[in-house]
Amino acid sequence: MKGGQPDFVQDMFQQIAPHYDFLNRLLSLRQDVCWRRRMVRRLNLSAGSRVLDVACGTADVALEVARRYPQSLYRAVGVDFAPAMLVLARKKILRAGLSSKILLAAADALDLPFADETFNAITIAFGIRNIQDKRAVLKEFFRLLAPGGTLAILELVVPDRGWAQKIYLEYFNRVLPRIGRLFSKHSFAYSYLPESVARFPSDRDFRGLMTASGFSNVGCRRFTFGTVALFTGKKHQASRSDT
Ligand SMILES: C[S@@+](CC[C@H](N)C(=O)[O-])C[C@H]1O[C@@H](n2cnc3c(N)ncnc32)[C@H](O)[C@@H]1O
Repeated sequence: MKGGQPDFVQDMFQQIAPHYDFLNRLLSLRQDVCWRRRMVRRLNLSAGSRVLDVACGTADVALEVARRYPQSLYRAVGVDFAPAMLVLARKKILRAGLSSKILLAAADALDLPFADETFNAITIAFGIRNIQDKRAVLKEFFRLLAPGGTLAILELVVPDRGWAQKIYLEYFNRVLPRIGRLFSKHSFAYSYLPESVARFPSDRDFRGLMTASGFSNVGCRRFTFGTVALFTGKKHQASRSDT
């Protein structure tokens, strides 16, 4: 089973990069834009904030952060391990005139080249599903967050039950892979997608992992008929009695 292994995932995103944005908008009926917006709104950044967007892909989250917080954002940094995604990200940032606000770096989420407590917020959208060692990546996020900082994780999930799950499984397992294959010309990327979503832990288990990694105030909200989950957590601000 290769799915979820770093080389396999990196190679896949290298290949589908040119069609990635188009297919995201098409397959989600443009809901992906609203989902990222919702996550970014939750960050509630204060003045001088540094934001890290992990698995940034073509920089949609970083762009949304820079647009939503033109005053309070000091800088957003996007990291991804697929160079082809970063090339597209760079072009979009240039076109938006936001190069002074968004930096990009090629890096693996499990080994991020930043000092402890550098960021006030860390985001990852539709990326953590692809990372096998979730415990390790959450620990890395915890290391990089400044005390009081927020972690926000957006991910596709299988609806809990009922008619939503039935329609979802039909669409995700039958319709989506065909459309994806047709436009991306990639034989398995859009079959891997539903497989990887099905493997993602339950809300309860994932919240448990976040708590075990040190995060507090851990919460999860689902939206769009339960097909998307937004997990949030805080790095506890040390009080005087902690020090
Ligand atoms: C589904 S895309 C999401 C992109 C973007 N966050 C968005 O909202 O559209 C997943 C991205 O995660 C990146 N990725 C997956 N595993 C990674 C890892 N271990 N380190 C860095 N990037 C990773 C892939 O290269 C890809 O660009």
